[in-house]
Amino acid sequence: MTPRLRPAILILLTIFACPLLPGPLLPAADDGGELSPQDKLVVETVLRLQSFQLESSAPAKAAVLRYLRARLGSKQSFDLIRRFKPVEIAPDLAAFGLEHANETEGVRAAELLFAMGQQKRLLDVAEADDSERAMTAIALIGRSGRGKTVESLLPLVTSGETSMDRRIAALTAMGRQIDGQTQILSMVKETALPDELKFAAANVLLASPNAEAVEEASKYLSLPETADSQPLPPVVELAKRRGDVATGAKVFREPGTCIECHKIHGEGKEVGPDLSEIGSKLSREAMFVAILDPSAAVSHNFETYVLLTDDGTAFTGLLISQTDAAITLRTNEGIDRTVDREAVELFEKKSQSMMPQDLQRLMTAEQLVDLVEYLMGLQKSAEGSTAT
Ligand code: HEC
Repeated sequence: MTPRLRPAILILLTIFACPLLPGPLLPAADDGGELSPQDKLVVETVLRLQSFQLESSAPAKAAVLRYLRARLGSKQSFDLIRRFKPVEIAPDLAAFGLEHANETEGVRAAELLFAMGQQKRLLDVAEADDSERAMTAIALIGRSGRGKTVESLLPLVTSGETSMDRRIAALTAMGRQIDGQTQILSMVKETALPDELKFAAANVLLASPNAEAVEEASKYLSLPETADSQPLPPVVELAKRRGDVATGAKVFREPGTCIECHKIHGEGKEVGPDLSEIGSKLSREAMFVAILDPSAAVSHNFETYVLLTDDGTAFTGLLISQTDAAITLRTNEGIDRTVDREAVELFEKKSQSMMPQDLQRLMTAEQLVDLVEYLMGLQKSAEGSTAT
């Protein structure tokens, strides 16, 4: 079923696969299934031909694409894409990048999308319904877009239609670039920045390596105060520190009050997500952000609703169940309240997280670092490991 190769290509193959030439360009270990020896020979040849135009031979192109799909992520695959920029591989490249967004290869894949002018593949995901993938796409654009990061992410930051968690992620990703910081600073000065974005903006600007930007930004922004009335250090700085696990476990209960809303190994209330394995889910930096800037990550299952009854009682909480007859919300004290549909005057989703926005004032920076140390240690137990 392999397409017939034109005679010219066959001649080239014979010449370039000749044993007098230096050793093979494909790794010796490249003997996995899926690929025919013929495809490998074509790729080997194409890699050797300095001025070969992939578009000049449909069969060679088909062989290269088969190779790319089977070996995407390898050095050879990236070399081939960099050289020939075949747009047909863009969807695979985007999927690979999203799957490996926290790895070198994933970032390289995304960089190639930008080099091919195919970054829209990532931008579309950043705006699509699946919020977890969208957040991954935004972070990936921030890591790979270089000179195009700001123009790619700015529309997300400024759009009133984009959800707050995505806007915060886009602002943070944009803030990794110096021109992104400049852009954010001018938005701050023009007071064009919604309040919900200010914590993220302060974190980006006050931790900038550019001293002038820090000075300028501190005229407009500050980080909130902690329990000892000291300003909170920026998240990147907090993430460099190490704390004490045992103290952190205590902070989780008191003074942090986290246990009022989160369960760890069966202990605590279930207003927010169970945190028994949170250390496997979030990076250290993301953990600080989850605690300090809850609207940066409103999880899908934990959206807050407001309900007003016809006798003027207001409830705020998580939606537990919703039937034709009644609505049940779980309040932030972990109490389930059920209201008959007939008695419901108003029922709507709130954009804000139910997690308090100012938890840093309950703790000192040291206690916060201890708390995160404790949470980072809450890992998924290794699957299949045999207890001895
Ligand atoms: C009043 C309830 C409440 C309190 C108090 C609270 N949280 Fe939360 N927390 C939530 C809710 C609800 C969520 C779900 C996401 C959202 O809506 O923001 C959440 C989300 C989180 C997440 C992200 C979880 C994930 O799966 O991504 C972390 C981490 C977290 N909280 C840690 C803490 C820590 C640490 C404290 C104490 C300092 C704390 N929370 C105090 C309600 C609370």
